[in-house]
Amino acid sequence: MPNRQERVRIAPAKGRLAVLTPGLGAVATTFMAGVELARQKIAKPFGSLSQMGRIRLGKRTDKKNPLIRQFVPLARLEDLRFGAWDPYHDDAYLAARKAEVLSRDHIDAIKPFLKKIKPMSAVFDGRYIKNLKGDISNVKLQKSLMAKAEALMRDIEGFMKREKCDRAVVVWCASTEKYIQAKPVHRSLAAFEKGLRNNDPDIAPSMVYAYAALRLGVPFNNGAPGLTVDIPAMWELADKTGAPISGKDFKTGQTLMKTILAPGMKARLLGLAGWFSTNILGNRDGEVLDNPDSFKTKEVSKLGSLEYILQPEAYPELYGNFYHKVRINYYPPRGDAKEAWDNIDIFGWLGYPMQIKVNFLCRDSILAAPVVLDLAIFSDLAQRAGLKGIQEWLSFFYKSPMTAPGLYPEHDLFIQLMKFKNTLRYLKGESLITHLGNEYYNF
Ligand SMILES: NC(=O)c1ccc[n+]([C@@H]2O[C@H](COP(=O)([O-])OP(=O)(O)OC[C@H]3O[C@@H](n4cnc5c(N)ncnc54)[C@H](O)[C@@H]3O)[C@@H](O)[C@H]2O)c1
Repeated sequence: MPNRQERVRIAPAKGRLAVLTPGLGAVATTFMAGVELARQKIAKPFGSLSQMGRIRLGKRTDKKNPLIRQFVPLARLEDLRFGAWDPYHDDAYLAARKAEVLSRDHIDAIKPFLKKIKPMSAVFDGRYIKNLKGDISNVKLQKSLMAKAEALMRDIEGFMKREKCDRAVVVWCASTEKYIQAKPVHRSLAAFEKGLRNNDPDIAPSMVYAYAALRLGVPFNNGAPGLTVDIPAMWELADKTGAPISGKDFKTGQTLMKTILAPGMKARLLGLAGWFSTNILGNRDGEVLDNPDSFKTKEVSKLGSLEYILQPEAYPELYGNFYHKVRINYYPPRGDAKEAWDNIDIFGWLGYPMQIKVNFLCRDSILAAPVVLDLAIFSDLAQRAGLKGIQEWLSFFYKSPMTAPGLYPEHDLFIQLMKFKNTLRYLKGESLITHLGNEYYNF
């Protein structure tokens, strides 16, 4: 392996990057406001790998541990420009006020910036998202889904022109759509395009956004658990236009905790009898998830992690028979300040039972915002490095990571972080770090 030499040619991060989000709700506004507050040095972007993360290079004795953003060429916060689509007409200021995540002081400190972000009209279908109340008339009225996709492409191009952007990325920050499984219309690009022309009811709005972005070669990252870019038609399109895709479902809150705790239990060969997880949350996301069809999409995404981390087939006595339950309860008084409880029944030496209780009082959008920023920035890096299709190295950011067909997803947060950093080292021609010392191997 070449050393200290770019292994892959990475185009420079010159000019402005458009960051476009379907959805201008709690997560999107907390993300955009946070970037502006960080740019104005009012607050710090804690939780963001692209802003604060470091990467070790070479041997431990080399003592080289630069910031990731100094090691690989990333878009700078100053160069980001924000746009969004939403069926509500509220600009980012009003949406942030209604979301009640950030303090009035923080929101008002950047009022002119937020006021300027006005949502473009959405591709919306009430059959896919229920429980949204009030005036949701900011929607595209073209007759066919293909015409709507073309309108989205014009939105992206128009935004880039207006804001003088050189590149763009899309991060889905809109509500969770109802649960669907892959159908024939999703199996090839030709079938999908025919479906767009014929308004096939199995095409979700999120897929129309993804199609529009990928047609333009723009990376698409899916922050919700829906199928969206996880279908053969999108893989084919991403391959054709050279666009990176990633998903699904931002890893925050309870699932983040699960993927921190479960690898530790497995490392110490502690058995698991059951894991019961419940949540109360009162934001709009919670209200949408109160609908059984949307909850099903979320439940599938949340349930997968333990099974993959614990590998019941390899450790049947420890993990062959555990009971796993996830509940989400909509409870308006809490707003975005979610509370999550986990009861974990484990067993150790000779089968003696023990319990772990976790009570996480988190803020959903505060955990999600840095993930949106990192996905925007690293999917842009992927694009400039010529990485197309599914970006498994971005699994670190997701609850339900997308993988190449036939591979199982990696859920363990620590393996995901190693894969993420080793990918960056690989891109730059640095030695991969395996944590084996020099005394054994001559790296
Ligand atoms: N906050 C977290 O920790 C977290 C973690 C993982 C995933 N997510 C997902 O992120 C998404 C956003 O969460 P949120 O808390 O901001 O929700 P939110 O309800 O505050 O915002 C979602 C916005 O999407 C809009 N929307 C719905 N359908 C749309 C469409 N077709 N096109 C454009 N906009 C549309 C809604 O009008 C709403 O304004 C949800 O899918 C949620 O499940 C959030």
